[in-house]
Amino acid sequence: MILITGSTGNVGKEVVRELQSEGIPFVTASHRSGHGDRYLNFEDASSFTGALQGIDSVFLMRPPHLADVNKYFRPFIEEAVKQNVKHIVFLSVLGADKNKIVPHAKIEKVILESNIPYTFLRPSFFMQNLLTEHGEELREKHDIYVPAGKGKTSFIDVRDIGVAAMKTLIQEEHRGKAYDLTGNEALSYQEVAEIFSEITGESFTYSNPSILEFWKTYRKKGMSNDKIVVMVGIYTTAKIGFAKRVTKDLHTLLEHAPITFEQFVKDSIDTLK
Ligand SMILES: NC(=O)c1ccc[n+]([C@@H]2O[C@H](COP(=O)([O-])OP(=O)(O)OC[C@H]3O[C@@H](n4cnc5c(N)ncnc54)[C@H](OP(=O)(O)O)[C@@H]3O)[C@@H](O)[C@H]2O)c1
Repeated sequence: MILITGSTGNVGKEVVRELQSEGIPFVTASHRSGHGDRYLNFEDASSFTGALQGIDSVFLMRPPHLADVNKYFRPFIEEAVKQNVKHIVFLSVLGADKNKIVPHAKIEKVILESNIPYTFLRPSFFMQNLLTEHGEELREKHDIYVPAGKGKTSFIDVRDIGVAAMKTLIQEEHRGKAYDLTGNEALSYQEVAEIFSEITGESFTYSNPSILEFWKTYRKKGMSNDKIVVMVGIYTTAKIGFAKRVTKDLHTLLEHAPITFEQFVKDSIDTLK
């Protein structure tokens, strides 16, 4: 049996959709009652045994607010060893193999040390972030408000990650592999604004605020300093050209071209209103 963690999140929902459409049996986990088949709370180690009972494969994701790997994820992976889990597909992040400081790199290491066969999915920046984290400015002001300068990003659609996760969960040949998942092109946020304008027929701008301006705006919205620091880190990475790498891994896994940014905008038009 397959267990999907983060099943109510951006990626988890897509993994669930793909497994359902293939008719593959699975169970979902949630830390909120009534939201999943099994209770799993990474902050409550007593939930691990029940969540992992009878599970062969786990789709594992790290909820963004949980960074302490030894506290929250090591005990979960140790329990997976005890319960004889045979495969973990872990939602990591692009660059985790080089940047050992990110929690994803530490989780990859714990999984490697556990000797449970693994597949690491290392995606680039989600297209959907523009609708969620930056959705307010996008909908209300038709503005893309991120401090990324002219830097390019190899955006990925979470629906493609759902397919990649489904395939790696059910096909044996992906064990022991790490995939760097990106879309087929890298775009600047100016180009992203132009695509939004072209597809919707309305004018979208990219305002490229300074880091100070960005920080003040998001503090006013009530965002924590920690979260703003993470966001600034992500956009600075893009600004200096470290988010533009395009790989073939997703195309190869999907056996067709990844979803383009144009297609993502076309499919999102209703949520922009
Ligand atoms: N955003 C990007 O561009 C990007 C790019 C590459 C990698 N990533 C990585 O992808 C991951 C985020 O994926 P996502 O966007 O799909 O997540 P998400 O939409 O933020 O969803 C978080 C999920 O975590 C679950 N959750 C929250 N607290 C929990 C807890 N204490 N115990 C167990 N589950 C808990 C939530 O479900 P319940 O509340 O139902 O339990 C929810 O399903 C992060 O690790 C991030 O670093 C993101």
